[in-house]
Amino acid sequence: MMGRSASGLALWLLLLASAGAVMAQADRVNKSSSGGLFWSTAKEEGDLMRKSEAQESTVGVDDNADLDGGFSSLDGMLQWAIGRWCFLFFFQLLELMEKLKMPSDAQLMQIAIADLNNSSLPMEDHHRALQELLILVEPIDNANDLNKLGGLTVVIRELDNPDPEIRKISAWILGKASQNNPVVQEQVLELGALQKLMKMVNSSFVEEATKALYAVSALIRKNLAAQELFYAKAGDLMLQDILSNPSIDIRLRRKTVFLVGDLAECQLESTHKAELPFFSNRHFLKSVVDLIASSDLDLQEKALVAVKNLLQLRTTEALVFKDYCDLDGALERMRKQLQQLMEDEYKRDYVMDLESLRREVGLVFHQKLGKVTHVPT
Ligand SMILES: *[C@@H]1O[C@H](CO)[C@@H](O)[C@H](O)[C@H]1NC(C)=O
Ligand SMILES: *[C@@H]1O[C@H](CO)[C@@H](O)[C@H](O)[C@H]1NC(C)=O
Ligand SMILES: *[C@@H]1O[C@H](CO)[C@@H](O)[C@H](O)[C@H]1NC(C)=O
Ligand SMILES: *[C@@H]1O[C@H](CO)[C@@H](O)[C@H](O)[C@H]1NC(C)=O
Repeated sequence: MMGRSASGLALWLLLLASAGAVMAQADRVNKSSSGGLFWSTAKEEGDLMRKSEAQESTVGVDDNADLDGGFSSLDGMLQWAIGRWCFLFFFQLLELMEKLKMPSDAQLMQIAIADLNNSSLPMEDHHRALQELLILVEPIDNANDLNKLGGLTVVIRELDNPDPEIRKISAWILGKASQNNPVVQEQVLELGALQKLMKMVNSSFVEEATKALYAVSALIRKNLAAQELFYAKAGDLMLQDILSNPSIDIRLRRKTVFLVGDLAECQLESTHKAELPFFSNRHFLKSVVDLIASSDLDLQEKALVAVKNLLQLRTTEALVFKDYCDLDGALERMRKQLQQLMEDEYKRDYVMDLESLRREVGLVFHQKLGKVTHVPT
């Protein structure tokens, strides 16, 4: 970034210096030549200077000053003209600088992808290119361009990079690009990245595992075909492993239980599809319910949402929640915990939200239970 602003400043000076030359010529110069400006990577700084020198001589102004006013002297007229001309020239320079500062996002992505794809560049450059892509893929139009520019293939290849940091950012980019974007989801799946990302969730480098899980979630969210693939690759076991292992990083567990809630919701919405047996597996259900009793409010909240969705599935059994998972016990412990937290006025709003969610889960649970057991009246 320093390199860029330095080269930008140098160009400024060059253009300013050329202003004198242009004015001395007093000819009308063609304006169209200022269009062909371009952005450059740090490695192309030399290039930029060369090109700007070449362009400098052709940068022109559109001199439409109408010289019909009454001037008392030739000198006055000249000064007026020069003043006006400089003014115009100044704004054209500004416009030019804007173009330099803001090349199209597609151009920026193209450069980043080319840098990433260039194995003769050092790792810092690959790292920088990935950081740039991470920001660039955020707008949906850019995410859609990524594959057109050959970027997906190149980024997916980096999932195999020996450097864990590079793998982490690559997974992150894929997650960002495919989030809420069925087109990119499809493209990434077609390129076979899901399984690779699922393996990365096992990484002992927590940052990598977290971003990989983020990408997996983004790929399979609201996408039944992707979810089928996920389950076919033992995604359910992956979820269960993470949920039932308290030594796993809390961020990973939060993301996992959130994903479980999401998958259960998706199953709820697709009533025409048979429910997966995994959702009604009692060990799995217990590992989700147990998280309600964790000491992390965020994790507890996500677990409540997941349990609420799971309770509404046709194939989950109320009695399993009652007897095997002791959902009543978990909800009661959480009630006491929230009651204590309510005393902290800074947390009160959040705690009250959690309490109403907790009650809702209790309600859904007892409705489901009421259908199978007949409480004497
Ligand atoms: C500007 O350039 C275009 C094409 O190069 C040419 O057709 C046009 O006449 C030029 N205008 C002036 C004012 O020189
Ligand atoms: C890769 O980078 C090197 C070093 O900057 C450069 O000389 C070469 O032209 C680049 N290759 C491609 C294919 O862009
Ligand atoms: C990456 O480089 C290879 C050759 O090294 C080339 O065939 C391929 O088209 C490049 N991909 C992109 C997206 O630039
Ligand atoms: C993750 O590791 C566990 C045990 O270490 C293994 O059973 C499982 O297959 C691995 N998952 C993936 C997706 O590689």
